[in-house]
Amino acid sequence: MCGIVGYIGHRDAYPVILKGLQRLEYRGYDSAGIALYDGSEIKLSKTKGKVADLEAKVSEQINPVGSLGIGHTRWATHGVPNDVNSHPHFSNSGDLVIIHNGIIENYATLKEELIKRGYKFSSDTDTEVLVNLIEDIQKNSDLKLGKAVQVALNQVVGAYAIAVFDIKKPNEIVVARLGSPLAIGVGENEFFIASDASPFIEYTNNAVYLEDEEMAVIRLHKPLNVRNIKDDRIVSPYVQELKINLEQIEKGGYDHFMLKEIFEQPNAIKDTYRGRLLIDEGIIKMAGVEDNMGKFLNANRIIIIACGTSWHAGLVAEYIIEDLVRIPVEVEYASEFRYRNPVINENDVVIAISQSGETADTLAAIKLAKEKGAFVFGVCNVVGSSISRETHAGAYTHAGPEIGVASTKAFTTQITVLTLIALRLAKAKGTMSNTDFRRHLVELETIPEKVAATLKSDALAKEIAAIYKDAKNFLYLGRGFNFPVALEGALKLKEISYIHAEGYPAAEMKHGPIALIDENMPIAVIATKYGHYEKVVSNIQEIKSRKGKIIAVVTKGDTQVRDIADHVIEVPETLELLSPLLTTIPLQLLSYHIAVMLDRNVDQPRNLAKSVTVE
Ligand code: M6R
Repeated sequence: MCGIVGYIGHRDAYPVILKGLQRLEYRGYDSAGIALYDGSEIKLSKTKGKVADLEAKVSEQINPVGSLGIGHTRWATHGVPNDVNSHPHFSNSGDLVIIHNGIIENYATLKEELIKRGYKFSSDTDTEVLVNLIEDIQKNSDLKLGKAVQVALNQVVGAYAIAVFDIKKPNEIVVARLGSPLAIGVGENEFFIASDASPFIEYTNNAVYLEDEEMAVIRLHKPLNVRNIKDDRIVSPYVQELKINLEQIEKGGYDHFMLKEIFEQPNAIKDTYRGRLLIDEGIIKMAGVEDNMGKFLNANRIIIIACGTSWHAGLVAEYIIEDLVRIPVEVEYASEFRYRNPVINENDVVIAISQSGETADTLAAIKLAKEKGAFVFGVCNVVGSSISRETHAGAYTHAGPEIGVASTKAFTTQITVLTLIALRLAKAKGTMSNTDFRRHLVELETIPEKVAATLKSDALAKEIAAIYKDAKNFLYLGRGFNFPVALEGALKLKEISYIHAEGYPAAEMKHGPIALIDENMPIAVIATKYGHYEKVVSNIQEIKSRKGKIIAVVTKGDTQVRDIADHVIEVPETLELLSPLLTTIPLQLLSYHIAVMLDRNVDQPRNLAKSVTVE
């Protein structure tokens, strides 16, 4: 859960690494550091704080020259965020320097052994143990750096993406991965290393994504030397051509990535269904589903595993799939599923949802489901991510890079993919009439323009935010397809504004949460005009009788709720099962504006990171 960057080539490494760290800051931002080799010595600068703090420190501390270097932005696991625990870390001799994303689980035992052999440690990190283990192996053998790294990694239990170099051999960097992502950008006589491709996309479109248990020795003017860490097999590197561009990963005039990503949703949803929703032919085409149709149609049940916002998208999918396809669906937190000895077998289909494709709990849950014989289908956004490779088949969301820690376009595009899957399965299973199927396709195609219309409520959401920004608690209520939207609205608010918020099915309110309601409690209610509308109106009445403040998301033209609610935000009419794609938008905007007004760090909220690659 950290970002790593490295460079070796003909350019000044510092600007490449610094910019790379800025782009990877979403992965962790409690400390940052850089090590550069200037032809005679390693220059190190590191600090608690953000990449901007590092930049200030570098200009005070070192002359940042050199065409080889590594950099790190940290999300602390072992040891508090401070200057000493920041990466890079040196070995005791000062010859080796390392950066690491992941956790060495057996670091305490290894550290004890090394201390017995005379090693000293200045930090509390597991990473300093690893670099000294490599040094110790080198000292007691005539192994080159690459081999010593391999031997060390075979003694390590845990997860890692590392980059390490040796001052005695300053023309190479050794990298390796297990459980944490690592991409190598391949340029003309230069190589880039990064946790994802964003740090090097302006220099090269060619990337090699290391697989788990792979390592590479990167040398200038030499082909990449990739091998399997465990069995020493030579691997021929697959150079992938990347399709993302720089504009996609920059803010494009918005104050925050989150706002940019909220406003990208019309296009992101269109990109998700492009080439899959074929209106003229009246069909849905998804290769991953077509190729495995038998597995889906014969499934006893579908189990959806995910975390956070992706789990909420899974809940929406549960309602949609059961409604349209009539296959039982269960939705599980990946973190619970993986540890609770679940009953699962070869007749089950597991759908794993993850924006990043790197979430450790989801990845572990996938491995468990595979071991038990289930067919596992992935819904990921990041192309080439660990989950997209670990699953048997899958469908990308094609939302483009999501940088803001709070997921927005990932949620709506995940729901879009899952709706496409449900519709395709319903057609194949015959649980939907042709007319009904066609009606859903036509309506789904209009969603981007309806999302665009909903985004016009931005100014209204901002006005409402100004009224309630100082509230200490919020409730979010919704029913049916919009119950998960209530959960998602509450999650958005708490993660970026730090205001306590809870989401509930509206009818559950009377079983407890109603006790919380008084004149200080704002309650966001999704009260769109569908089956449960009258019931939700009754819930709103109940809240009003207890003086709660209602912020209602309603269907355009609604008058009944308007008469009783304190504020209403309208969304266009659509089919009930597609309504979460619209009702979630005002809630995203509300949480965004509250967080901005409270002066929170919207894109990098405290204690969080974009991809949670630790347990
Ligand atoms: O990358 P993933 O979709 O697997 O991430 C899962 C959660 O960590 C993520 O959705 C998290 O809850 C977001 N910060 C929510 O906005």
